[in-house]
Amino acid sequence: MQYKIALIPGDGIGPEIVREAKKILDTVCEKYGHTFLYKEVLLGGASIDVHGVPLTAEAVEEAKASDAVLMGSIGGDAKTSPWYQLEPSKRPEAGLLGIRKALNLFANLRPAYLYNELRGACPLRDDIIGDGFDLIIVRELTGGLYFGARKTEEIDGVRTAVDTLTYNENEIRRIAVRAFETARKRRKQLTSVDKANVLDSSRLWRSVVEEVAKDYPDVSLSHMLVDNCAMQLVRDPAQFDVILTENMFGDILSDEASMITGSIGMLSSASLNETRLGLYEPSHGSAPDIAGQDKANPIATILSAAMMLRYSLDLDREADAVEDAVRKVLQKGYRTVDIMSDGCVCVGTAEMGDRIAAEII
Ligand code: IPM
Ligand code: MG
Repeated sequence: MQYKIALIPGDGIGPEIVREAKKILDTVCEKYGHTFLYKEVLLGGASIDVHGVPLTAEAVEEAKASDAVLMGSIGGDAKTSPWYQLEPSKRPEAGLLGIRKALNLFANLRPAYLYNELRGACPLRDDIIGDGFDLIIVRELTGGLYFGARKTEEIDGVRTAVDTLTYNENEIRRIAVRAFETARKRRKQLTSVDKANVLDSSRLWRSVVEEVAKDYPDVSLSHMLVDNCAMQLVRDPAQFDVILTENMFGDILSDEASMITGSIGMLSSASLNETRLGLYEPSHGSAPDIAGQDKANPIATILSAAMMLRYSLDLDREADAVEDAVRKVLQKGYRTVDIMSDGCVCVGTAEMGDRIAAEII
């Protein structure tokens, strides 16, 4: 089959990790007889440098015209990069939020599981890790604090800033449905995370999730406050199957979840709308401090490409082949520096990509 893939290398380590993911996709094409037609799209700082804005209408059109979008990372060093001299709505991150909104990518899936081989890289104690964990965070991605009205002004000589956290019941319902559907395909346990002891938006969240739950009697639902969830993730991560939460809480909890998998360099993600089109990106940032040094871990991006094969292109066998290849390379003891442990072989970004490509059968 032939598919159109928009590639967004982005900034920092983005280009080098996307290069490795493309290497993997090219190998999948060879082995399974597909053709991927790639179109490179500028976003974030890379777009600012060329067009003066982090996202153009053309970039949105290119993304919409493709079957899926694979992205590296965007953003630079806020202290030194000229991108951060621009007003906030013109900075790299605004490009990422803009494309999420333009494509209506309201459902962000971030799976976090511990490879047995990476137990040594997991910062949790062995008795806490137990038999490992396998959870997925379903994060609302186009609402909440990220997209509410904001302003900074001086009131009676005092600088004052306001951000608005708004959710309506329709936004909550559609992400809740996605989370229940996800749970149905897994261990059927859903934990909805909110701050209902303080926030109105969380109280509405909880009641809409309860309503949706009536259509999913086979899924067991519990509610957890976000501060407790942050604690439970490092106290007993195995208790979780699917975590459903709003945009900001999901941003924070997914970084925490990634760290207990051994490294933030391991966490893939899929951002989906109501159609098959999705944007796939690692959950980590652009790590400008190590950009261009062949040090970045490409696995999160490669696993994001696997999610792309599965969710947007319906190529389950091919997605399994990529995930198996990652596992085999870890089993053979190859590690990038972020997941390095005693007795393993430390390899760079490109070699990690080569080794994973070589294991695809
Ligand atoms: C993420 C990132 C983004 C977010 C940033 C880069 C705007 O942290 O995808 O988790 O906050 O959503
Ligand atoms: Mg984040």
